[in-house]
Amino acid sequence: DTVIKKIMHDDSDDEIYEQAAEILKNGGLVAFPTETVYGLGADALDEKASAKIYAAKGRPSDNPLIVHIADKKDLEVLSCDVNDMAVKAAEAFWPGPLTMILKKKDIVPDSITGGLGTVAIRMPSHPVAARLIKTSGVYIAAPSANISGKPSPTKAEHVIHDMNGRINMIIADDTVDIGVESTIVDLSEDVPTILRPGFITKKQLEDVLGEVKVDPAVMGNVADGIVPKAPGMKYKHYSPDANVVIVTGDSDKVVGKINELCELRRKEGKRVGVMTVSEDAGCYNADKVVDMGSRCDEALAAKNLFAALRSFDEDGIQYVYSESFPTDNVGQAVMNRLIKAAGHTIIRV
Ligand code: TXA
Ligand code: MG
Repeated sequence: DTVIKKIMHDDSDDEIYEQAAEILKNGGLVAFPTETVYGLGADALDEKASAKIYAAKGRPSDNPLIVHIADKKDLEVLSCDVNDMAVKAAEAFWPGPLTMILKKKDIVPDSITGGLGTVAIRMPSHPVAARLIKTSGVYIAAPSANISGKPSPTKAEHVIHDMNGRINMIIADDTVDIGVESTIVDLSEDVPTILRPGFITKKQLEDVLGEVKVDPAVMGNVADGIVPKAPGMKYKHYSPDANVVIVTGDSDKVVGKINELCELRRKEGKRVGVMTVSEDAGCYNADKVVDMGSRCDEALAAKNLFAALRSFDEDGIQYVYSESFPTDNVGQAVMNRLIKAAGHTIIRV
């Protein structure tokens, strides 16, 4: 049975942290909120515990986990090469939504790094995550708390939907703010490389680290033979049961094309959904229209994205047509996830 506990933001929380810490110390699994998405945590240095994460998620074993810490000093415990870039990035962005890839020390088990010589490390800023790491006294290995391939959870109800009965405890606290997973930057080689875009942008990293590259696979197509450096980025991901298609181009034409596609599918008896911006939300004829917020508000689109994708399944929608979103800041992370959710099916008009 899965214990579900809601954070009350008062003294009664103490008991929740104690209980969760006991579970983690004894090799169990606890889902908890972070500032990006919910994580599914286990003791990172306990191979049996982390093996349970892979089983609960149905995650391929070559897909490594992020180790969460609560003190910058712990970088030295986990990595044998905490270089100047890592020190600067930690200073500028931690605690926060940045994951660093660094050469690993032997104490980090190969089973959580997918056999790689590097380890992914993040110090989350969310108070529940930080307190859980401190109370348990363990480093917490945590992927997003979804069934592998599904959209990451940004609300407790998403975690309960995917993980109830599969893990020991869910800490519910709907204060996940950012909505897309952390930016991953590889600092194990000479030039820092972004492996996964997130809330911390390339520009922000460049201001601190100088030249920063982006892994070509971030916006590219695996089918074109571009293999991502982050193993997890090569899988079909973030997708609801519904079939997702992105329609991009001139705004008027996009609305026209999406309505045309909706009409076609509805004639076949299918239920259709549209993911759009506030400016266009009134223009569609569909069974469900999800308004992601103003076209100018990339952060709001990020916050809404995974809940929006999940909401189509809740309503039995079979085809989802989505507009594309601007990619100047966190919007790049939004489009990166959306393109994967769509399995790279993009119609240009
Ligand atoms: O915001 C986040 O990062 C959330 C919260 C819970 O912290 N976690 C998260 O974990 O998104 P997950 O497992 O869903 O994504 C981790 C990504 C995967 O794409 C994985 O392949 C990559 O990080 N990764 C982990 N270790 C790596 C390594 N040593 N080298 C390259 N990529 C790595
Ligand atoms: Mg994930």
